[in-house]
Amino acid sequence: MKTRIILLFFFFYFAFSFAKTTPTFPFSTIINRPNGLSASSAKAADNHKLYDTKYFTQILDHFTFTPQSYHTFQQRYLINDRYWGGAKNMAPIFVYMGNEGDIEWFTQNTGFMFDIAPHFNALLVFIEHRFYGKSVPFGGEKEAKSSSKTLGYLSSTQVLADYATLIIDLKKNLTATDSPVVVFGGSYGGMLAAWFRLKYPHVTIGALASSAPILYFENITSPYAFSDVITQDFRSESENCYKVIKGSWQLIQDIAEESGGLERLRKSFNICKNYISVGSLEGWLSTAYTYTAMTDYPTATNFLNPMPPYPVKQMCKAIDDPNHGSDPLAKLYSAVNIYYNYTGEVNNCFDLASSSDPHGLSGWSWQACTEMIMPLGGSNKDSIFPASEWDYNERAQYCKEAFKIEPRPNWITTEFGGHNIERVLKRFGSNIIFFNGLRDPWSAGGVLKNISKSLVAIIAKEGAHHVDLRFSTKEDPKWLKDVRRKEVEIIQKWISQYYHSLTDLI
Ligand SMILES: *[C@@H]1O[C@H](CO)[C@@H](O)[C@H](O)[C@H]1NC(C)=O
Ligand SMILES: *[C@@H]1O[C@H](CO)[C@@H](O)[C@H](O)[C@H]1NC(C)=O
Ligand SMILES: *[C@@H]1O[C@H](CO)[C@@H](O)[C@H](O)[C@H]1NC(C)=O
Ligand SMILES: *[C@@H]1O[C@H](CO)[C@@H](O)[C@H](O)[C@H]1NC(C)=O
Repeated sequence: MKTRIILLFFFFYFAFSFAKTTPTFPFSTIINRPNGLSASSAKAADNHKLYDTKYFTQILDHFTFTPQSYHTFQQRYLINDRYWGGAKNMAPIFVYMGNEGDIEWFTQNTGFMFDIAPHFNALLVFIEHRFYGKSVPFGGEKEAKSSSKTLGYLSSTQVLADYATLIIDLKKNLTATDSPVVVFGGSYGGMLAAWFRLKYPHVTIGALASSAPILYFENITSPYAFSDVITQDFRSESENCYKVIKGSWQLIQDIAEESGGLERLRKSFNICKNYISVGSLEGWLSTAYTYTAMTDYPTATNFLNPMPPYPVKQMCKAIDDPNHGSDPLAKLYSAVNIYYNYTGEVNNCFDLASSSDPHGLSGWSWQACTEMIMPLGGSNKDSIFPASEWDYNERAQYCKEAFKIEPRPNWITTEFGGHNIERVLKRFGSNIIFFNGLRDPWSAGGVLKNISKSLVAIIAKEGAHHVDLRFSTKEDPKWLKDVRRKEVEIIQKWISQYYHSLTDLI
């Protein structure tokens, strides 16, 4: 199934996103804090400004000294000093390492930092990733993304250097050079956070790397593992649900071959007339299952699309519901409506050809063609998806056509490691929390074992994609509160140790 190429993306963007309005910031949830933290975060709700927006003149190329490398661009960062205890007190600085999209969008899913900032008297900083949002070099999207000559400056090593440069400069401006910095990140941003701690231990005392699949490179993790997790998510809800979805791919192929079959499929799923192929239908369906599994959160979400709590369960309920008759297409239609049309706001038809990118994620296709070669596109015969093999050549071919370049599939492990991670990190690494929710397919490439006393894997078998970083709510289950409490305790320990080490040296 060629259309699984969509899995290049952490957060799928181009088709199938029907959110009518940009989701608004969930102010009301701010006042719900993890248990045991101080009550002062309620202040955030009084003042609707969650952060100030600033720009920093950033160097284009940190690693060469040719004239072009001295070019600069404006890098956006967001800052909130409402809770900060100040430079004099050496109060901590919490920095979010921006992902592959608009930084303001990501702040909506990092409520955890707002929730815990009052407890730590922490300054909050969210840095936008170069080539995304408003942090685009070369004067604009069009200029920056038109050729590999300019896109070449989009790489993880440049990004980490941006973050280090900005943090050091900011601390200097605030005369806060002794304030400890803790970095946070989720998903790709979580990988950046973990790598940042390993590469820049003089800039940060520790990292919370949530749902960071740093082991999904080369052959460290099986290419089938990603879809195995999705299969397991649905299968554990109900065997019938799994069977209906699994059986649907062949059924769709069979119907497509009948005369008038494509039209019948189109009508069954309420798809607009511009719909082109059975491949795009398959992609549309598998996108729904994949992203529902990723965001199988215990409370309602508006992150990718608006969805109810435990959406996988809801999808399987729709499939198992006898009121939907025996027509598998009707069952699937009501199931995918939970992902695409939960609010019931998609009026006429689903537009599979639409290519909106509301969160500005398009730069990821360049990253997925250069360094971020994560071989996760395989499905074994028991998979909920049609059996398929991960095919590096298919990716390479796509990249050649799209950018006229050849990927470097071994670069990430060369630069950051990954093989024998336990043995390697045990000897020199420290202070990283790797959180993974095991219902999240990306957890397959995460660090799931404790490596040392301070390289800690926190696992929630009920958890999904960086669920720990979301705003806390009154409905949060106990396991989620426990995860967050553990994280707070560990961060607290890093900070205390840091202060102790300062006095030890005097
Ligand atoms: C630090 O201050 C200088 C001078 O005002 C300013 O140009 C620079 O952008 C500031 N750095 C940050 C990270 O804001
Ligand atoms: C990955 O491939 C390399 C080179 O082919 C091999 O030496 C290594 O054992 C493989 N590792 C795993 C985990 O399969
Ligand atoms: C979306 O849901 C609403 C309410 O259930 C329904 O009326 C509408 O037809 C659905 N949209 C599509 C494209 O099926
Ligand atoms: C790792 O150690 C911590 C205690 O430091 C514990 O809470 C956690 O459950 C352990 N993780 C795993 C995967 O065993």
